[in-house]
Amino acid sequence: MNHATRKHDRYSSSSSRMGGSGRGDRFGGQTLSRSGAPGRSGGGHGRRPAGLQGEFALPVSVTPALPEAATFAELGMPPALNKTLTSQGVHEPFPIQAATLPNSLAGRDVLGRGRTGSGKTLAFGLALLARTFGQRAESRRPLALILVPTRELAQQVTDALTPYARSLRLRMAAVVGGMSIGRQAGALREGAEVVVATPGRLRDLIERGDCRLDQVGITVLDEADQMADMGFMPQITYLLDQVRPSGQRMLFSATLDRNVDLLVRRYLTDPVVHSVDPSAGAVTTMEHHVLHIQGADKLATTVEIAARDGRVIMFLDTKHAVDRLTQNLLDSGVRAAALHGGKSQPQRTRTLAQFKTGHVTVLVATNVAARGIHVDNLDLVVNVDPPSDPKDYLHRGGRTARAGESGSVVTLVLPNQRRAMARLMADAGIVPQTSQVCSGEAELQRITGAQAPSGIPVTISAPVASRRPGRSTRRYR
Ligand SMILES: Nc1ncnc2c1ncn2[C@@H]1O[C@H](COP(=O)(O)OP(=O)(O)OP(=O)(O)O)[C@@H](O)[C@H]1O
Ligand SMILES: [Mg+2]
Repeated sequence: MNHATRKHDRYSSSSSRMGGSGRGDRFGGQTLSRSGAPGRSGGGHGRRPAGLQGEFALPVSVTPALPEAATFAELGMPPALNKTLTSQGVHEPFPIQAATLPNSLAGRDVLGRGRTGSGKTLAFGLALLARTFGQRAESRRPLALILVPTRELAQQVTDALTPYARSLRLRMAAVVGGMSIGRQAGALREGAEVVVATPGRLRDLIERGDCRLDQVGITVLDEADQMADMGFMPQITYLLDQVRPSGQRMLFSATLDRNVDLLVRRYLTDPVVHSVDPSAGAVTTMEHHVLHIQGADKLATTVEIAARDGRVIMFLDTKHAVDRLTQNLLDSGVRAAALHGGKSQPQRTRTLAQFKTGHVTVLVATNVAARGIHVDNLDLVVNVDPPSDPKDYLHRGGRTARAGESGSVVTLVLPNQRRAMARLMADAGIVPQTSQVCSGEAELQRITGAQAPSGIPVTISAPVASRRPGRSTRRYR
């Protein structure tokens, strides 16, 4: 089918294609399994069926879903998109893409729950771009909208989709807090077909008269449950109430819980539901370790892990704790940088860029880095402070073992935290490998690559050219 004929036929050809592939995969609650793709079940350890707390009953589609696509080519997307996929090294659809793209390209609403690192960005991004192709936005009136919970994720999604948007001559604009609102207003005034936004800043721009959503025909909520958890619900409903009522909506996350119930009921129409096992243990390339340590040894243990060869993200609960550990690491000779909501946006952007390029090897962060962020070649995540709920564990850990790569999640647990951690792991559906360790021990080194730090204090020199959001194609690189 030509992509152009698909643009507005929301439920086209679903019945004629149902049963076409005969591959037996189903939507709505069953794991898809295709060889070579990430997150396959079987093998690995730490896996057992489980539900996260607060799971909600997924809606049942009235209109049957189209069968999955075996290749990108058969999806009938604009040829330029297929060419860009190849040039980006993306050859085969991952399961969530194979399952949702036939439906999203046909205009169906989609509710997609796929494991961390399973390719959700392209799953919604390709459909959104293909269906926007050929249209031109008027000044201040975008045609497609992607809402995400954090500024870093907005930048990353913009970066990830920019080559594809460019190949279709679609203009993208990132709209996030903490950066010049005038510049973002300027990008919208020039005209942007696709806007990637954090909810608060987009609302500000609308209230200033710099943006209208009445032409938005496709809306995506990435990490929808997180936006609800962060208290963005009033902004989200404010925004969703302004997009075209008949438009397409897609809602994606690795975790969906009761908090998204209202969004699903109010804003999705007969959605195609694609859901794979939500438990963190389902990412079979991920190892889970709980390390029992003593309080007096926590800092020494953490510093030795941070001094490993190779990068690591370390999660802590508070901004203050993040800053304190970062300083300790720098004083010990470890190239670390802090990321949390108390930093200015240019600092946050620079820190993440320095981590991605390897200029710093340890990213010390609060949960602001837990959702959606992708860093290549990251094989270790450490919970220096144990997460407070299974969802946080899943998303923090999900920064490693992405797209079929392997990685470990290590959680440091003090004696008085053991019971709560055991309960959290059970709720998350994970049976971790548990060890008692001390700094300097071979076992700690075996699990994490820990080694003694140089002890020679380091300072991290300033940037890599600073990056500003706005029109993505030039300013993000
Ligand atoms: N079909 C594919 N083939 C190869 N690589 C892919 C494919 N689809 C996505 N990827 C890569 O997989 C990585 C993870 O993708 P993505 O960030 O979209 O995951 P996600 O499902 O959104 O994870 P999270 O739940 O953590 O947000 C990215 O580097 C992306 O480029
Ligand atoms: Mg994502």
